[in-house]
Amino acid sequence: MKTQRNISRRKFLRSTTALTASALGAPFILPASVFGAAAPSNRIHVGFVGLGNQSTIDLPSFLQNDDVQVVAVCDVNTGSYGYINPKHFLGRKPGQDQVNAYYAQKTPSGNFKGCDAYNDFRELLARSDIDVVALVVPDHWHAIMTIMAAKAGKDVYCEKPLSLTVAQGQAMVKAVRQHKRILQTGSHFRSSPNNRFACELVRNGRIGQVKRVLTFIAEQNAVDPGPGWKPMPVPKGFDYEMWLGPAPKAPYHAGRCLYRFRFNLDYSGGQTTNFGAHSNDIAQWGLGMDHTGPVEFEDMGSEWPPKGSLYTTATKVHFRARYANGIELICETREPKMGARFEGTEGWVQFGFGGLKTSPESLMTSPIGPNEIHLPHSIPSRTEDVYKNYLPDHVRNFLDSVKSRRDPIEPVEIGHRTATLCHLGNIAMRLKRKIRWDPQQETILDDDEASAMLSRPMRAPWHL
Ligand SMILES: NC(=O)c1ccc[n+]([C@@H]2O[C@H](COP(=O)([O-])OP(=O)(O)OC[C@H]3O[C@@H](n4cnc5c(N)ncnc54)[C@H](O)[C@@H]3O)[C@@H](O)[C@H]2O)c1
Repeated sequence: MKTQRNISRRKFLRSTTALTASALGAPFILPASVFGAAAPSNRIHVGFVGLGNQSTIDLPSFLQNDDVQVVAVCDVNTGSYGYINPKHFLGRKPGQDQVNAYYAQKTPSGNFKGCDAYNDFRELLARSDIDVVALVVPDHWHAIMTIMAAKAGKDVYCEKPLSLTVAQGQAMVKAVRQHKRILQTGSHFRSSPNNRFACELVRNGRIGQVKRVLTFIAEQNAVDPGPGWKPMPVPKGFDYEMWLGPAPKAPYHAGRCLYRFRFNLDYSGGQTTNFGAHSNDIAQWGLGMDHTGPVEFEDMGSEWPPKGSLYTTATKVHFRARYANGIELICETREPKMGARFEGTEGWVQFGFGGLKTSPESLMTSPIGPNEIHLPHSIPSRTEDVYKNYLPDHVRNFLDSVKSRRDPIEPVEIGHRTATLCHLGNIAMRLKRKIRWDPQQETILDDDEASAMLSRPMRAPWHL
């Protein structure tokens, strides 16, 4: 939200209402809402990009805030089935309808048609009335869209994993800071009070000296089509060229795009980055490693689809990383799919889909004293988990940051470091050998082949 622009919007409102009133020769009474806290002039104007699977949670999390107005949506899919939930009909048109219907039920007339819809995100970015963009698109678009949005003066809510490659993450950090933008990474498990408490127990020595952290990753939930798969015709209303964007040219297959993009290395890093962007994120938080990372990564028996399959990401994730202080991080496909267990000399703490668990059990109620380490809260008044997911609080934390101009709970650097850990795990698993990492310089040591995997060429005309 730009003060300058708000002033001009307010000035505009005042001058047009004054003009209208005098032209009509009548006293003009403004509704209280016009200049209230949630007045149009004070609202954060949001452009929402990517109306697929995750938008079903992210979009309502923006809409429910009275100081938000979603003014535009964008998706390259006009509208279709084919997402993770077979009953979901999603895309640009259903997204626009959802926004208009939400605001319609809040207006006395019950009519609202004010949300615009775009196929090309560059048109949405060109609008000077948009303060914030939510990027809920496949990972191969995160860097380009974030950097273009930052240059256009927009703040960004970017879904996790922050980047497709380490180099893209570095470029995102640079652009966000250079253009003085706010960016929240969508690793919303940071906004869970339980997860924060788990990390506070670890950081305050309740489990003694930390030796190891096990991080949990869900199994890959799509393995077919295998070798010999046949291309399909591109569906009507789906701009496949704009979906591919910077990724290599490839024949269309329904399993390539909606939701399942995450199982192809051209667009994502598989469950390593998908679930890893949550589990490894909280692991780094608990270890106090947010601004650094492990120094060594090694494959522990990962499994991959047969050559020629549509999907190219690990079907079984298993790698070991080691921090400079000797702590080990073991990241593995296992139950309960998302979360981690910190193991120390005097006990352990586990968080994630199975809930919070500790040994000894008494740690569950161990108070964190006033002089101990307290980690940031997304919503300071929230003391316990009230949602199945914590996305509404994570979005609220972002909106508050947009207003205060202070960093949110998961700023660009932290999102980048978490994604880096996952990317390096993938590189070690793909190469099936140990790689050494310098977290200060952000370089792989003495391995040209592995170093080349830190970045990817982009297909013209797209570039960072
Ligand atoms: N925070 C979480 O827990 C969580 C959960 C699921 C997904 N995600 C993240 O959300 C992002 C989207 O995942 P999803 O499951 O919703 O995928 P999806 O394929 O279901 O939806 C993505 C949408 O983006 C659209 N899109 C693709 N390229 C576009 C472009 N150039 N311009 C505009 N729209 C474009 C697609 O047509 C699709 O409708 C991913 O980065 C994913 O990792 C986060």
